[in-house]
Amino acid sequence: MRPDSDCRLCGLCEGRTQIVLPDGNPDTGIIFVGEAPGENEDLEGRPFVGRSGKILAKMMEEAGYGRSEVLITNTVKCRPPSNRDPKPEEMAACRQFLESELYDAKLVIGLGRSACRDLMGYEGKMDEVVNKITTIRVKDRDVRFLPTYHPAATIYNKVSREELRKTIAMVAEELR
Ligand code: URA
Repeated sequence: MRPDSDCRLCGLCEGRTQIVLPDGNPDTGIIFVGEAPGENEDLEGRPFVGRSGKILAKMMEEAGYGRSEVLITNTVKCRPPSNRDPKPEEMAACRQFLESELYDAKLVIGLGRSACRDLMGYEGKMDEVVNKITTIRVKDRDVRFLPTYHPAATIYNKVSREELRKTIAMVAEELR
């Protein structure tokens, strides 16, 4: 299930250039979930094509796979104004699309606090849950969930960078 190209389910429709749909391979069942499209994503219409996407793609390459082998998506499909965090009501409006993407997943990777809050209901510190696989409920199914840092949070932080690298390596094992 995908949003209509003129979706108006929440206020983010007012500022977007276009809706940013999932990108990559839905068949491996490995799905990375970020927060929301940023400026580059809004212009190109693909998730994670800006600075964060380059970090992610480089780490995947180092671990021996490419972004085209996994599915990459966001909790909301439209760019929030000035890249602010998506609001709970915006995430709730987009939830039906995210749930249909995640329903059959083998492993969902939550990139950063927003994704982990939305999908796990987790409000605490990322360092307490990072790289600990848990389960989340997607409609009537339990789906394996791997919480980790957002690539943007790894730019100036060596510890979170190493943790994200570990996540990417864990995913490489799942792909084998
Ligand atoms: N950050 C995100 O969370 N998602 C994107 O698509 C790009 C940057």
